[in-house]
Amino acid sequence: MVAFVSCHMQYISGFGNECASEDPRCPGALPEGQNNPQVCPYNLYAEQLSGSAFTCPRSTNKRSWLYRILPSVSHKPFEFIDQGHITHNWDEVDPDPNQGPRLAAFTFPSCAGLSQGLHTLCGAGDIRSNNGLAIHIFLCNTSMGNRCFYNSDGDLLIVPQKGKLLIYTEFGKMLVQPNEICVIQRGMRFSIDVFEETRGYILEVYGVHFELPDLGPIGANGLANPRDFLIPVAWYEDRQVPGGYTVINKYQGKLFAAKQDVSPFNVVAWHGNYTPYKYNLENFMVINSVAFDHADPSIFTVLTAKSVRPGVAIADFVIFPPRWGVADKTFRPPYYHRNCMSEFMGLIKGHYEAKQGGFLPGGGSLHSPMTPHGPDANCFEKASKAKLAPERIADGTMAFMFESSLNIAVTKWGLKTSNCLDENYYKCWEPLKSRFTPNSRNPAETN
Ligand SMILES: [Fe+2]
Repeated sequence: MVAFVSCHMQYISGFGNECASEDPRCPGALPEGQNNPQVCPYNLYAEQLSGSAFTCPRSTNKRSWLYRILPSVSHKPFEFIDQGHITHNWDEVDPDPNQGPRLAAFTFPSCAGLSQGLHTLCGAGDIRSNNGLAIHIFLCNTSMGNRCFYNSDGDLLIVPQKGKLLIYTEFGKMLVQPNEICVIQRGMRFSIDVFEETRGYILEVYGVHFELPDLGPIGANGLANPRDFLIPVAWYEDRQVPGGYTVINKYQGKLFAAKQDVSPFNVVAWHGNYTPYKYNLENFMVINSVAFDHADPSIFTVLTAKSVRPGVAIADFVIFPPRWGVADKTFRPPYYHRNCMSEFMGLIKGHYEAKQGGFLPGGGSLHSPMTPHGPDANCFEKASKAKLAPERIADGTMAFMFESSLNIAVTKWGLKTSNCLDENYYKCWEPLKSRFTPNSRNPAETN
């Protein structure tokens, strides 16, 4: 276990490891040699948080033990509350196989903390059978204060795009800035402080956890390296809030709230392998073609949430980081394609290489299974004539993709209420014209 200091916050380095952490104000808070002593050190309560079935094989078994001032069960009953724009109804609007929707940058409501600021954009699958995903946009300008959130339905991969997030969790604190991501796994309570109008994307997966992709012939190193994932260290507050702390729970797609008298961030020490974590996308070690043609975009996979079918993901989190383009005799931008997967694209900053305009930071686009897409006419024209010297690609840019084997449906909020739909997306391909030269195999001779 290595303590790692970043931006004045302390973290443990590694992915999925068995970790142990004590708030330094209470040395020895972790019981020695057992999980459940008759009386815990400092008179703490022991509580296990399970992230997998008890009987999962060791390689996928996840749980953590929390030693806390009061157990999580100390609260008033949960009551149903308005769920705003959160939904898991994938039949709100009719399916549409057209390219897109492409959506402009989502704009801010007047006032919202995270739980009110969540807007479900699209999704697929079923919460109750733990198989599916949802993509949400968060738009908030208010810290959560005496409120925390936990999700009974799945893991949340959070991609901040504008404004940093100071995230309090039961395991400690994380500062997550744009170009970093974090994962808050199922059941973990967290509260977020924001410092400005704050926007980002959330990929929620039901019933599975994110893993690092297998590397195959790449070898033991590369892509997202395990040591670059950072886990918070134990931190607690013994803060009384008589009747005034609200725990918000998303359960079977609906929101519920319960009051309690204390801050839930009262875990003095913990150990286990089921934790929140964060990752800086700058640390991604890019693999690519150094001869000719393209490798498939799966080489850019940061994290994957696997389905039960080998090699098929419920969702992959894929990024397109700054890198060199060196492929000889190659059309270098992304090629035209029709994919059996759903592709949701988002942009954290900069300009995506295959589209010069219209796809903006804070916006998004969805390409459905088998729907054709690729570079716009302008991009094709330029790249077909470009001199193929080594060149930097995507400097100052970070685009990403949530790619899913599920057939994703857009919500009413995404298509209509957000008022962000670009009705003219298809027009970027209209200028494409036939370049066919039936009498000359070598186009250069006729150009
Ligand atoms: Fe694509």
